[in-house]
Amino acid sequence: MTVLFSRLLPLALLFPLVPQVLASQPIDLENGEEINEVCAGCHGEYGQGGKAGKYPRLAGLPAPYIAEQLKDFRSRSRPNMPMVEHVDERQMPDEDIQDIAAYLARIELPSKLPPVDEHAPGFNAYARLLESKKVVQIPRAPGNVQAGKKLYHRECASCHGRRGEGRNKKNIPMLAGQYTNYLWRQVRLFHEGKRHHDPDDPDERLLDDFSHQELKDIFAWLSTADD
Ligand code: HEC
Ligand code: HEC
Repeated sequence: MTVLFSRLLPLALLFPLVPQVLASQPIDLENGEEINEVCAGCHGEYGQGGKAGKYPRLAGLPAPYIAEQLKDFRSRSRPNMPMVEHVDERQMPDEDIQDIAAYLARIELPSKLPPVDEHAPGFNAYARLLESKKVVQIPRAPGNVQAGKKLYHRECASCHGRRGEGRNKKNIPMLAGQYTNYLWRQVRLFHEGKRHHDPDDPDERLLDDFSHQELKDIFAWLSTADD
């Protein structure tokens, strides 16, 4: 133990993040998979979301972002009645939050099924069906895609990424590949001040200056960005 520490200490001084990593429990993905059985009831077995965006897609969101949202639901600083009972301290201690967040963040979902020859020997219809459940293809949302693309790149891309893919390192969620209905609901929560867009600066109202039409155009472009 002492040997280990004396070896790690100089490293820890060089990289201030190292002690935090050491302090947390190792990630247990099997535990994450088990917890996901509860989440799957609403968010789908692969975190693909459901009911056309009533339940958002979770697969591929940054792990620290997922963890933060779960803690916000728990403290009720972000409203989410359907989930409150699943995230209270007894149901979901911090270690579980870490595991489920890591599990969901690692799931990659295709936006289309690769073509196959259904008549080829060895074609497995059941495996194909399971594969098709993982596909998330956001239906084209109404609005002007070209105008939306321009606005998005000027106003949103610096944080949400050039293709709307989000930023892992900065805990910023993807917008492309997320359901349009869900995104609109978040816009309303931001407008009503029930959710904060910039966790470091709760007074920053990032979307207040955009008209409904401008956001519509942005969401139209985003719905095509995952094609
Ligand atoms: C009873 C249904 C239900 C269950 C079960 C459920 N959720 Fe949710 N969850 C929701 C709803 C509804 C929302 C969207 C709330 C909103 O629109 O603001 C949501 C939102 C989220 C978000 C926010 C996503 C984002 O992009 O910000 C995360 C993260 C999340 N859920 C994780 C989980 C995890 C992990 C579990 C399992 C432990 C789980 N949920 C179980 C209903 C559910
Ligand atoms: C300064 C960085 C920044 C800019 C610029 C920005 N966002 Fe965000 N956005 C964030 C962060 C951070 C979050 C996550 C907030 C949280 O932690 O709850 C977020 C979340 C969102 C969400 C909710 C996503 C979800 O999964 O719940 C939507 C919708 C959104 N942003 C839309 C936009 C749009 C549209 C633009 C451009 C007009 C934009 N944002 C510009 C940082 C930014």
